[in-house]
Amino acid sequence: MPKDDHADTGLSKKEYKRRLRALQIELVKIQRRAITHGHRILVIFEGRDAAGKDGVIKRIADHLSPRETRIVALGKPSDRDTRSWYFQRYAPHLPADGEIALFNRSWYNRAGVEPVMGFASDQEVEAFYDNVGAFEQMLVRDGTQILKYYLDISRDEQERRLAARDQDPLKQWKKSPIDAVALQKWDDYSAARNAMLTRTEYAFAPWYAVHTDDKRMARLNTLGHMIRTIECPDTDKSIATVDPAVIIASPRDRL
Ligand code: ADP
Ligand code: AMP
Ligand code: MLT
Repeated sequence: MPKDDHADTGLSKKEYKRRLRALQIELVKIQRRAITHGHRILVIFEGRDAAGKDGVIKRIADHLSPRETRIVALGKPSDRDTRSWYFQRYAPHLPADGEIALFNRSWYNRAGVEPVMGFASDQEVEAFYDNVGAFEQMLVRDGTQILKYYLDISRDEQERRLAARDQDPLKQWKKSPIDAVALQKWDDYSAARNAMLTRTEYAFAPWYAVHTDDKRMARLNTLGHMIRTIECPDTDKSIATVDPAVIIASPRDRL
């Protein structure tokens, strides 16, 4: 059976664990300060099925306070959700003062999975693009820091992970009708990703693309990047190395 980290290269498990732990200690400092000062931190993770969103969120949350850390992975919208303001179902999960919210998918469903799977009309998608900047700006003006990570996986690696998932009794809960067609719709998802990264890059809520074929490097770099990006005088930024080949700022400029 393929192990969780079978595709990783270059870094021993021991060294990975050592670096991960050092970064998790810095995240604890960020959280402590957020609690003391009432900061709100919202981190959005987007990306194709099997890109590793669950895995990186788990590593971030591992040693954080469960009370002040919210992991948000909403299921498909209810009948009432579909009759409500699009952002409404996300709003109750936004971080309050002192909280860190980690979103596994978000309102960006309306730029990705929804148009690709036919769950939203072209008009709904365009209305989303018209409104999402104002929505995020409202949050930022009201004191929420927003970071948006797009986890980018290659086609071959997605195919490998989805096949491995089929075989792994511990990963059955991750399977869905949506990932069954992820590979067939590869090009549609690419077009949707490009539109999203191009049209929703804001100075107040920037995107970062993360290469995730190597899960260990993806996780270390994402945690490191958060530590470098979230303002906190208590953290030791020198241990938070960010490899520009793994994390790409302003990814729309590379499309
Ligand atoms: P995940 O990849 O998050 O584990 P899925 O692959 O099942 O979950 O679904 C991907 C996303 O599509 C989820 O955010 C889910 O809420 C959304 N989704 C599923 N069905 C619908 C639907 N009918 N309309 C809108 N969104 C949907
Ligand atoms: P296309 O190849 O342009 O037909 O689009 C590829 C996929 O992206 C399709 O599934 C479309 O529904 C979706 N799509 C088209 N236009 C947009 C857009 N402006 N924003 C997001 N997704 C889009
Ligand atoms: C991931 O691992 O990328 C996701 O969170 C789970 C999925 O692919 O459905």
